Amino acid sequence: MDKKRLLTGLKPTGTLHIGNYFGALKPFTDVYRNYDSYLMVADLHSLTTARDGAQLRQNLIDLVKDYIAVGVYPKEAIIFKQSDVPEHTELAWIFECLVTVPFLMQAHAYKDKVAKGLEANAGLFNYPMLMAADILLYDAEVVPVGEDQRQHIEYAREAAGKFNLAYGDTFTPPQEMILKGVGVVPGTDGAKMSKSYKNTIPLFGSREDIEKAVMSIVTDSGGDRPENVYAIHRLLKNEAELAALYEENKGKYKNLKDALVEDLEAFISPMRDKRASLTDDDVRAILRDGAAQARALALKKMERVRQLIGTAI
Ligand code: ADP
Ligand code: TRP
Repeated sequence: MDKKRLLTGLKPTGTLHIGNYFGALKPFTDVYRNYDSYLMVADLHSLTTARDGAQLRQNLIDLVKDYIAVGVYPKEAIIFKQSDVPEHTELAWIFECLVTVPFLMQAHAYKDKVAKGLEANAGLFNYPMLMAADILLYDAEVVPVGEDQRQHIEYAREAAGKFNLAYGDTFTPPQEMILKGVGVVPGTDGAKMSKSYKNTIPLFGSREDIEKAVMSIVTDSGGDRPENVYAIHRLLKNEAELAALYEENKGKYKNLKDALVEDLEAFISPMRDKRASLTDDDVRAILRDGAAQARALALKKMERVRQLIGTAI
């Protein structure tokens, strides 16, 4: 049986932490092989905020390395960059001509910006239509995203509907796949691990980085078990294994932190090594191959669209 097509887009969000891994990357790497998978680097979407070319270039390369290091095999997914397939922006424009301004004004990202009294650029306003094009150009049926992206998939379905109504059945309405991770991974202070809170354990950190982060974990002196240490340990080992360790080291927080450092090091080091083995040129070669494959598919779809809308003569 043919596999269903899956597509997801990634914006570079900076240095990844283990919360990102257990909340988003791991659930993705667990499923992508069951589909005909397309992993797109959403560089054009980044431009709604990015203003430093050298920085964006570096972030793009890093993002691809990160994904490969956590287990996305370039032979098992098409990894490509949005800007390498100009049909995305062409189709986005076509959708923009089919939807209304009040409809786009309902988008959360746009509304939040305006609610803060800030001026939104037109790119942010049109963001949902570029994302609809990303998905619909490939007839992707399944779109793995975090909860915050649910509305964008609805927009993609609406765009498909509007086009189909105007020109006949052309686009498949996609379905979101909300990735279920382990729930909220706590940071070194017990609050949600987040790069904005500076409470992270970096996913590709050196042994030193790991030690520093673990030693900074806030230990409450209430019970026998340091809950903030345990909550992170729980991601790496099962309850039975941990029960014995924590019983043996009751009240000995230093020993437990040392054990956590060892377990984190064992978990992180293979990914860290894999990441270090990838060069920028490896990434360029992967993206070049990916673009050729993605573009062939996108072009086929666009030839049909151009016929339908009348721009092909
Ligand atoms: P941050 O909060 O560090 O800025 P992002 O918002 O860039 O992280 O999150 C990227 C992805 O990682 C999202 O899908 C999000 O659900 C997941 N994620 C981030 N932090 C955590 C966490 N502490 N626990 C579980 N998942 C997380
Ligand atoms: N908007 C998505 C995010 O911020 C990224 C994205 C762009 C995307 N195009 C996509 C996700 C297509 C899924 C499908 O995370």
